[in-house]
Amino acid sequence: MKVGGKHYRTIYPVGDGGGVEVIDQTRLPHEFALVQLHSLDDAVRAIADMVVRGAPLIGATGAYGMALGLLSDATTPALEEARRRLVATRPTAVNLRWAVDEVVATVAPLPVAERAAAAFACAAELCDEDVASCAAIGEYGKQILAELARKNPGRRINVLTHCNAGWLATVDYGTALAPIYKAHDAGIPVHVWVDETRPRNQGASLTAWELGQHGVPHTVIADNAGGHLMQHGQVDACIVGSDRTTAAGDVGNKIGTYLKALAAHDCSVPFYAALTGPTIDWTITDGLAQIPIEERSADEVRWVRGRTALGEVVAVNVLPEHSAAANPGFDVTPARLVTGIITERGVCPATAAGLRRLYPEM
Ligand code: MRU
Repeated sequence: MKVGGKHYRTIYPVGDGGGVEVIDQTRLPHEFALVQLHSLDDAVRAIADMVVRGAPLIGATGAYGMALGLLSDATTPALEEARRRLVATRPTAVNLRWAVDEVVATVAPLPVAERAAAAFACAAELCDEDVASCAAIGEYGKQILAELARKNPGRRINVLTHCNAGWLATVDYGTALAPIYKAHDAGIPVHVWVDETRPRNQGASLTAWELGQHGVPHTVIADNAGGHLMQHGQVDACIVGSDRTTAAGDVGNKIGTYLKALAAHDCSVPFYAALTGPTIDWTITDGLAQIPIEERSADEVRWVRGRTALGEVVAVNVLPEHSAAANPGFDVTPARLVTGIITERGVCPATAAGLRRLYPEM
């Protein structure tokens, strides 16, 4: 992805291997700022405070977090403690556990003195894999949008997306947005309905920002508008990301995704989840019962951040002083509401058999 004409990944090593640089996503869209992480503590904080977020990027940061931790202590107890602390930061996105475990499996058999370097190499490899996977998702998803364009000549194709499953949520390209970028670049007229995605507004702040950087036509809508647009034929497809998808195709994603899927089902609008292999949790089959849902601070519901007319970025309280607030961060869309899963290996039905056909080794 390009920002102001310059290509960026969302995470990359800096300073002779002693740190990594990331985009501070808490400051977008008002400010594009890079921050460096130099320790396990930095990585834990960056994930927990959502400086970085989005399942694949959380995984990448977790992998580099392990490497940064091993720089100061590469003994086996320290390795286990780093794993425990990182995995505890965000419970829903399974990419985190997967990436951290990949690093552990790579370095644990090595002598202590070789572990940090091996962890950095492993993290870099996982990042490259994520980029390649997201690019492949883009190609497969583009075919779906091309087919919709072929069936609807002379008009734009309207895609609704929820939260941010774009470049900012991955190392590059995105999952749900990769097909949109590839279609746009190929000249397919695509327009995106961007759910604002309360309470943290990842759609309004992040998805709208990155689509704008790439020049993709888009319109931000209130979270409640999607059903109405679908009833009136203004949505050709929904594409969302996922933080954890079960082996049977239930899709865990940002809170509110389920409501979009219900509306899409009622209106016969195809509903796709785009995700890379590491988002599939092969150990579970019942999303409602088994996907852990992160409960985040009620302050995220209470306080909304934005820029005043005078240009100052402030947070304002939108609740009565004594009202309670609750903030479940994710929900589960049952597989029966998902038209298809777009992966780096192709598109499959949201079923155990469909996923197994694409990932026979699992
Ligand atoms: O809480 P967040 O911002 O980390 O949630 C992100 C999402 O729900 C994304 O849709 C999901 O991680 C897919 S990212 C490619």
